[in-house]
Amino acid sequence: MSEENITRDWDPVGYDQNARFVSDLGEPVLQLLNPKPGETVLDLGCGDGELTLKLMDAGCHAIAVDSSPAMVASSLAKGINARVMDGQHLEFEGVFDAVFSNAALHWMTQPKEVIAGVKRALKPSGRFVAEMGGRGNVVAVLAALTKARQRRGLAPVNPWYFPGVEEYRQLLEEAGFQVPVMQLIQRPTVLPGELRGWLETFAVSFLITDGAGREEMITEVNEELAPTLCDDSGKWTVDYVRLRFVACDSFGLD
Ligand code: BEZ
Repeated sequence: MSEENITRDWDPVGYDQNARFVSDLGEPVLQLLNPKPGETVLDLGCGDGELTLKLMDAGCHAIAVDSSPAMVASSLAKGINARVMDGQHLEFEGVFDAVFSNAALHWMTQPKEVIAGVKRALKPSGRFVAEMGGRGNVVAVLAALTKARQRRGLAPVNPWYFPGVEEYRQLLEEAGFQVPVMQLIQRPTVLPGELRGWLETFAVSFLITDGAGREEMITEVNEELAPTLCDDSGKWTVDYVRLRFVACDSFGLD
C-alpha cells in the first residue's frame, strides 16, 4: 500500500480536544434545517453525534451515519441510533424527511455519489440541508502543507473537496433538486489551542511521511503560518469558508 493510501480512524479524544468547535458552530445550519418533532432525519457524517443529539432534542427520529467506526462508537455510547456507512454509498431508500450534514461533506470526494444517495434516501418532498467547507476553505493551511510535502519530494495529497456555489448548485440540480438557498460564507475560526492540534486532528494524510519527518513538518507549517494566522497572544485563527445550502424536491418548496 502506498503511503498516500494509508488511512486511520478518528481519535475521539483528540477530536474532543481539538474539534469541539465543529459542532459548537453548527447552530446556523441546524436553524436552517428547522427540524420538527416527529420528522425522520439522517445526520450524514455525524462525527461524535453532538448535533444528532440536538436533532433528538428537537423531537426528531434521528439516524446517524459516519464512515469512522470510532466516531460511530462514540455516538452509540450517547444513545444515538448510529451506524458505520460510507456517505458515498448510502443504503437508504425513501425514508427521510430531511438529510442533514455539518462539516462532513468535504471529506467525501465523490460528490455525485453522495448527492445521488441523499436523493434516494429522501422521501418525495424531503430536503437536504448542509454546511461544508467551500471554495477557498483553509487555503493558507493547504498551501503550507502542500509546500512542506513538495520540499520533501512527497506526492501531493488533498483529502478535501471544497466546491464553489455554482459547482455544487449544478450537481444538486443535475440530481433533480431545487436549490432555494446556496451561500458561501467567510468564517475565520478561532482554534481552541495551537495549530499543531488542528493539524494532528484534521491533516493526518498530509503528515504521513516515512515517519521521521512528521514532527519537523508540523513545526515547519506552524512557523510558516504563525505570522498570518497567530496573533500576539498566541491565538490561532484559521481561514474557514463555509458552503451552506438547502436543496429540496420541487414539491417541497413552499
Ligand atoms: C472544515 O470543517 O472546513 C474542515 C475541517 C478540517 C479540515 C478541513 C476542513
